[in-house]
Order: sequence, then C-alpha cells, then structure tokens
Amino acid sequence: MYRIHHADCFEWLRVCQPHSLHAVCTDPPYGVLEFTEKEVSKLRAGRGGVWRLPPTIGGSQRDPLPRFTVLTDAQKLEQRRFFHEWGKALLPALVPGAHVCVAGHPILQHLVQGAMVEAGYEVRTAIMRLYFSFRGGDRPKNAEKEFPEVCVTPKGAYEPWMLFRKPIEEKTVAENLRKWKTGGLRRLSVDKPLPDSIPSGRTPNREEAISNHPCLKPQHFMRIIVRTLLPLGEGTVLDPFMGSGSTIAAAEAVGYDSVGVELDGEYFKLAESSIPRLAALYPDFTGQELQMNGEYGSIERADKQQLAMTLAEKATTYRTKVPTKSRRG
Ligand SMILES: C[S@@+](CC[C@H](N)C(=O)[O-])C[C@H]1O[C@@H](n2cnc3c(N)ncnc32)[C@H](O)[C@@H]1O
Repeated sequence: MYRIHHADCFEWLRVCQPHSLHAVCTDPPYGVLEFTEKEVSKLRAGRGGVWRLPPTIGGSQRDPLPRFTVLTDAQKLEQRRFFHEWGKALLPALVPGAHVCVAGHPILQHLVQGAMVEAGYEVRTAIMRLYFSFRGGDRPKNAEKEFPEVCVTPKGAYEPWMLFRKPIEEKTVAENLRKWKTGGLRRLSVDKPLPDSIPSGRTPNREEAISNHPCLKPQHFMRIIVRTLLPLGEGTVLDPFMGSGSTIAAAEAVGYDSVGVELDGEYFKLAESSIPRLAALYPDFTGQELQMNGEYGSIERADKQQLAMTLAEKATTYRTKVPTKSRRG
C-alpha cells in the first residue's frame, strides 16, 4: 500500500506523526538549486541555467543533467543548511534505528554528510551505484589539444547513496530490532549481506517511456536498496523528494508500505500515473539479487509507448491537506 502527497516535505514532516516511519530512501535535489522554480522553468524551456544537455551519442538525444561544478560557495553553504534543516525536520518522525538512504553527488557528498551528522544521524557508509555517467574525464577546457593526455577529474562511474541511521535507543541492535524492527539492514539472502557497491546501469528505456522525469532512477537498483532498508521487512518507507515515484514503485514491487511527497505539481501528476506502471514491470524481481534482469535491455520506441499505455493502473493516492506554499518564504 502506498500514499502520495502533493506538498513541501518540510511542511509535511512538521505534521507527521512521531515514530511513524521506519526508513527513508530518497533522491533529493543534490545541489538544492536545480529544482527551484527558476531552474525548473529553464529546464522545461530547454535553455540555460544549471541544467545542461550532454552530447548526443550515436544520434540519440540524452537527458539533461545538472552541472554542480558551477555552484558558488554561498550555494554550497545553502545546500549544507538545507540538508541540516531537513535532517532535523525528519528525525522525530523516524523510529530509533531507522536508516536513511540519500542519493548524492561525489563532489557534494561531504556537505550532506556533515549536515546530517550535525542534525543527529550516524554515517553508516555509502552504497555505490555503479554505472557509466557523463561526469568528469574531460581535458582542460580550451587547451584540449595542448594536453591530450590530461583529464581534469576521473571519469565518473558511480553515484553515492549515502547511508545514515537515527541512533538506536536500546542497548543493542538486537534489542532495537525486537522493539522497533529497525537498526540493521536486510540481507540479500541468509548467506549474502548487502555489498556496498551495486552494479547498475542507466535507467532502461522502458522505464523512461513511463516517466520523463529528468532524474528517474532504475527499478533494478531501487528495489535492491528499498528492500534492504527494512531489516525485518516490516514498517513504512518514506520518499520525501519523490519526483515521479521510482522509490514508491520499488517499495510497491517489493511489498512494503510507503509514503511519497512531491512539491512540483507536474511531477506529482507524473508520479500518480508512473508508480503503478513502474511497479508492474519485472514482476519476478523484488530486489533480492544483484544480477541485472535480462529484461533490462532497450526496446523500440513503438513498444515503449505501447507498454506505457497498456500497463494497468492500481494506485491508491491521497492528496494532502498540508499547504504547498514554500517553506522558505
Ligand atoms: C532528484 S528528483 C527525484 C526524482 C525521482 N528519483 C524519480 O525517480 O522520479 C527530486 C525531486 O524533489 C522535488 N522537491 C524539491 N524540493 C522539494 C520539497 N521541499 N518537498 C518535496 N519535494 C521537493 C523536486 O520537484 C524533484 O521532483
């Protein structure tokens, strides 16, 4: 069962029942500013701002990506403040021992980790989503020919999903598990703990045919991560920056209760239609193995559209009464 809310998650968290959530899995605005109204309208108009279009490869158009190297010191400070405030707002809603998994960017990760520690969380390593990205690996700008053997940063091949935990309240993890159902992570199987790097890939075409959110995450990875966050398979998972709902769809596929919150009206509507369709894909895959499902190959555009149209809708959605106007005034 899932519920989704069209709201600012800061407002929503303010009225959220204490000790009602057992895990958080989220892909937040990494640099904060890329999902401000100003930047989203530039993204939708297809010009300028923090979003850039990566090069066309093999004639196929790629999705826009935000450029975090352009953030100023003031914007980085704002990012740290944002996550600190968010971490504090979230804390009362979580049970002790709840894990919080937050997607990040390698060059901004330290800011989020610092902010979350100050807000009262423990850093519990990070899980690397291994995939080929468009990040890094470039030669020095305007001197490419002069320095053909130099790259300014390594070519990106992972996305960190930072793992935090609200400190346990009982004396041991075992006692915390008994009382709150939290404190540890669910193994892939009895003899296989979750590793801290997970082979992934770009989001498959058949999923992008369902949602065109610029940050749609692949079901393969999301189901593995969401599944592991409830160690006994019991409780509720929150995604406070839901976008078009890949976390909620993953929870639904795994069989967990979940709640999603999204600020933007268009993305909220997209989530309403995308969640049941994404959840219906790969019915045999519930995140308990690392191998990529054979169905993850690309499919033709006509098939994509047909797939998106024919998958059944079975969502239960609620609109929240929480005001949607900006928390930061
Ligand atoms: C990186 S995207 C998440 C995309 C998601 N992974 C998906 O699969 O569609 C972050 C989302 O957070 C939303 N957002 C930003 N600030 C928010 C806030 N204060 N409350 C709720 N949602 C917010 C943005 O509109 C954006 O859709």
